[in-house]
Amino acid sequence: MTAPSENVRERIRAVEGTGMRTFWQPEPLVWARTEGCHVWDADGTRYLDLYAGFAVANVGYCHPRVTEAIRAQAGVMTHCPSAAPSAVRAELYERLLAISPPSLDRVLLAVTGAMANETAVQLARAATGRRNVVTFSGTYPGRTVGAVPYAGKHAYREPLGVAADAHFLPYPDQYRSAWAGDGDPAETVLRLLEDALVDPASGVEPPACILVEPIQGNGGVVIPQAGFLPGLRRLCDRTGTLLVLDEIQCGFGRSGRMWASEHDDVAPDLMTVGKGIGGGLALAAVLGRSELMTTWEPDTVTSTFLANALNAAAGCAAIDVLREEGLVERSVRLGAHALARLEHELAGSTAVGDVRGRGLFVGLELVKENEPDPELAGQTQRALRERGVLVGRGGRYGNVLILAPPLVIEEDVLDGGLDAIAEVLQRAGDGLEAVRAIP
Ligand SMILES: Cc1ncc(COP(=O)(O)O)c(C=O)c1O
Repeated sequence: MTAPSENVRERIRAVEGTGMRTFWQPEPLVWARTEGCHVWDADGTRYLDLYAGFAVANVGYCHPRVTEAIRAQAGVMTHCPSAAPSAVRAELYERLLAISPPSLDRVLLAVTGAMANETAVQLARAATGRRNVVTFSGTYPGRTVGAVPYAGKHAYREPLGVAADAHFLPYPDQYRSAWAGDGDPAETVLRLLEDALVDPASGVEPPACILVEPIQGNGGVVIPQAGFLPGLRRLCDRTGTLLVLDEIQCGFGRSGRMWASEHDDVAPDLMTVGKGIGGGLALAAVLGRSELMTTWEPDTVTSTFLANALNAAAGCAAIDVLREEGLVERSVRLGAHALARLEHELAGSTAVGDVRGRGLFVGLELVKENEPDPELAGQTQRALRERGVLVGRGGRYGNVLILAPPLVIEEDVLDGGLDAIAEVLQRAGDGLEAVRAIP
């Protein structure tokens, strides 16, 4: 008899179009149940999810307060048209603004992160009367036709027939910025950007905005040097450019601050949020300063499910949980613990080129003779899954293991996951075959 997981895979494989990510790996995990920081597959096997379902379950899966809020809202009203105000929408706005940087005082809703980024860029264009966008290598803005023009990876655009629509500069990656020579990568890129923005013959049109992740997530948990974001802020102020911070992955407590930009004390003009703020439901938003957020006439942007009452209720509960359970502080404490352990235990490994992190957001860069080793990263990810531990994989070359666990994770549970990671990566020093041989 076919195992339940294989049965599900077969039924989906038989009817699903091939463009989705489902069969990106030959035997994807079939998700059947989630709770806290665990996922169960359809065969009843439990996994510790140190990637929070692509950095979404910040408050943990099926948090009882979020589940209760969804249940209560489902009994009253689920669908509410975007054109109709509702109390739960007002409550969501108030909560979002209570946790947002103080200079941001208005909200526009979105359903996905990509949609939030599209909205932010279009608003920046409308507010400035300019159309150019500056962004960076490794930027991941989402994969819709409206967001993918700003993606670092051109491979995302080619199958969709979409062209790039931004001026790209290198992101100041402290580990892999050969282009900066012996210089400071952030200073180098800021100087290039300054030249592009102030030299009338640079070939670069004055931009509407700079779109940037304060810590790149899918780019491989890349943490820029301390001067980078303040430098961007100064250049924006000097040239009338809007600073749009994408906090969709690195925000909502992930990096040990509510927003990653708080590490550098930089206030954006517009900020996009998503992933964890919906507590597991589809919710994203643009937050911004009033004079920008009141640019558009009513009915410029809409979508049927933009103001869905269920999503809003889940978002309210997720924000309450994050604040009341002190999850941002937890991210600081457990993140420092995880980073210290991994730095110490992987110090001698030739397969791990870099261990970096902020809060419960950690990247492990896998290398072979200092070159990116995506194959080893893939094999390590599979070996960890065999041991019941899920980790993410990203990076410009696909060679970075990403840890972004639910912020509610218990320290001993986290330690169990770190034990498995350290053990597998210590073997990885002996090469790909050694990881393949792990039972
Ligand atoms: C930083 C960042 N921005 C935008 C997105 C796109 O969000 P969504 O997949 O909800 O469209 C993602 C998704 O991974 C992301 O990490």
